[in-house]
Amino acid sequence: MTKKMTVTSIQKAKGQTPLVMITAYDALFAKLLEPSSDMLLVGDSLNMSFAGRSDTLSATMDQMIYHTQAVCQGAPESFVVCDMPFGTYTTKEEALKNALRVYQESEADSVKIEGGADKAEIIAYLTSNGIAVCGHIGLLPQAVRSEGGYKVKGKNEHEALKLIEDARAVEEAGAFCMVIEGVKADVACEVANSVKIPVIGIGAGKNVDGQVLVFSDMLGLFEAFTPKFVKKYLDGAGVVKEAVAAYADEVKKKQFPQDIHTY
Ligand code: KIV
Repeated sequence: MTKKMTVTSIQKAKGQTPLVMITAYDALFAKLLEPSSDMLLVGDSLNMSFAGRSDTLSATMDQMIYHTQAVCQGAPESFVVCDMPFGTYTTKEEALKNALRVYQESEADSVKIEGGADKAEIIAYLTSNGIAVCGHIGLLPQAVRSEGGYKVKGKNEHEALKLIEDARAVEEAGAFCMVIEGVKADVACEVANSVKIPVIGIGAGKNVDGQVLVFSDMLGLFEAFTPKFVKKYLDGAGVVKEAVAAYADEVKKKQFPQDIHTY
């Protein structure tokens, strides 16, 4: 992919080609992911796969901005979305103050906010103040403690209707696209069909407007657990461990460095 996506081209993609979104947390990987992705998401999942915490809740604005700066440096041609961490958008004033930090301290193109109808007022306040917002409905990782786990959504009529209501509220509030996570595939498809903005799925089946995966999951680098919806395109952990073991072995045997690595 060559040309940097914009809010407009992302919206126009709906009904055309599926959008490819991948998380990125640093410049090194952002550069590697950029050629094959439409959007890079600096997800607060970095608190787990990068910082080693058990959930996303302790991620901070400073942490998100630091990683977003790195991703923007590594992938200047990518449309970059920065996740707003837990507790940084509880009021519209606080949300704007923190979203402005993202725009002023990094080159990010957009912020992402978890929540549906309950966050519509905050999304509307941000968009009316010039911030591009990506919504996030369905399974909300930031609700893991309050809901007592990661709960798949859309399992009954009531939940399906609530998801459609959430999607419409997020769209009406001015979001340019949204992520839908952990939702039964038929319901996610209905949700995507009920709004005009792209709905990007993760664990939501194939009949939505695009897909997002956490890069360390899809590259097989994150070993703690693998959700059902993840496809590992590489045994990253295996490849890395094998390479490091080979290096260690050569150091122990004094086979590295050789003459070509020596001044
Ligand atoms: O933080 C993240 O990586 C996310 C994705 C799971 C969509 O929000």
